[in-house]
Amino acid sequence: MRGSSIGDSSSSNWRKEALKKLVEDPILFSRLVLGFKPFKYQEELLRDEGKRIIVCAGRQVGKSTTIAAKAIHYASTNPETITLIVSATLRQSMLLFQKIMNFIDSSILRNSLRKRTRTLIKFMNGSEIIVLPCGRGHTLRGYSANLIILDEAAFMPEEVIANVILPMMAATDGSCWMISTPWDTDHIFYRIWIGEYGGWSRYFWPSKLSPLITDEFLEEQRRLIGEERCMVEYEANFIEERSSFFPMKLLRRCIEDYEPRLERNAIYGYDPGGRESLAALVGVKFDPRIGRWRLTFYRAERCESYTEFNSFILDLHRRAKMDRLIVDETGIGGPIVEHLKELGLPVIGVKLTEKVKEEILGRLKLMLEKRELTLPNDPQLLNHLNCIQYERTWSGGFRFTHRNGTHDDLAYALALAIYYPSESFLI
Ligand SMILES: Nc1ncnc2c1ncn2[C@@H]1O[C@H](COP(=O)(O)OP(=O)(O)OP(=O)(O)O)[C@@H](O)[C@H]1O
Ligand SMILES: [Mg+2]
Repeated sequence: MRGSSIGDSSSSNWRKEALKKLVEDPILFSRLVLGFKPFKYQEELLRDEGKRIIVCAGRQVGKSTTIAAKAIHYASTNPETITLIVSATLRQSMLLFQKIMNFIDSSILRNSLRKRTRTLIKFMNGSEIIVLPCGRGHTLRGYSANLIILDEAAFMPEEVIANVILPMMAATDGSCWMISTPWDTDHIFYRIWIGEYGGWSRYFWPSKLSPLITDEFLEEQRRLIGEERCMVEYEANFIEERSSFFPMKLLRRCIEDYEPRLERNAIYGYDPGGRESLAALVGVKFDPRIGRWRLTFYRAERCESYTEFNSFILDLHRRAKMDRLIVDETGIGGPIVEHLKELGLPVIGVKLTEKVKEEILGRLKLMLEKRELTLPNDPQLLNHLNCIQYERTWSGGFRFTHRNGTHDDLAYALALAIYYPSESFLI
């Protein structure tokens, strides 16, 4: 008896000691409880107990996985706390929630949940993890949190971060992690990153830190998405958008959180591209409920054969009848327009001279300034618009170029699509 009671007390001491270690050591917790072995750079971040942390990171480096591990460790070891994770889009918040649930479901923690919904996990210790999309901030109002993590902060409206999210920590003296792939320099994420506000620990995670990302993969991406997007998305550099015709500040005001999908009777713009550029197709449709145009479809790809891309367009037309298709008929565009007409598509050819470029891009800019057009939150599309630069010509007009290593084809396709918004044009 004596032996066993000694054994009991020493085993309960041992258990207490082990639990204490798990609480104190997020790495041990990740390994033993979640079955997740963080890479060195993820370990560093998980061990940081600072209250203000910013991570400027590349794609696929393991941001969301680290956030999931941090949130679970924090919630399960700090009773009665609220961890709020805000993602840039609904889709990202659903994926992150799933990541957290996968960790929990495959660990002993699955038995320590009191409640779970599609956005909330409540533990037996009274703590909660809530995962929500940022949107325009409406769904976030009313929360207060002990730990706030922003996943892809650079893609959230600055006023939502400043006026809705950061004040949530006022009453709790809480902590904040901001993690994101970088974007432009006219945003709070950049200003925090360069140290304008003081007190933030900074981590720099280019994608190549991850042992899972190979040089071959990065090389392939460079060819596929262009040098500049690689510099931003994989090397985690901010975009220098001086003399951008569509600055991010303007674009962000028109971004909504939605997935474009094929709609009947949309109007399409098609920039067939060339040897160096991509073939790009964009659909827009007027939404009478909100009184605005909305981008409903886009696709840009390097195109070996135009007949193939034309068949793809014909297929779209069969599935969701196009109202009209406005095509750049300069250069290779001429025969493409003929071919599309033969296929029976409602084609209008437009010669993209410098003058017409100025007109259509100017019109697009005006619509964006007046918020008459809604865009989805997608880096490829935003980059195609944002990379267009302009300079004044001696005659007072504009000349357009695009930054080295970028593609602007979706911007022209979009500008073509909204060129003739009035039905009267066809009459
Ligand atoms: N420590 C790790 N060990 C093994 N695999 C990992 C580790 N960290 C992340 N991964 C894997 O790397 C991939 C990318 O991770 P994650 O989705 O967290 O990255 P991300 O930076 O959020 O990506 P994105 O830029 O697409 O949002 C996933 O398949 C994930 O499971
Ligand atoms: Mg992620």
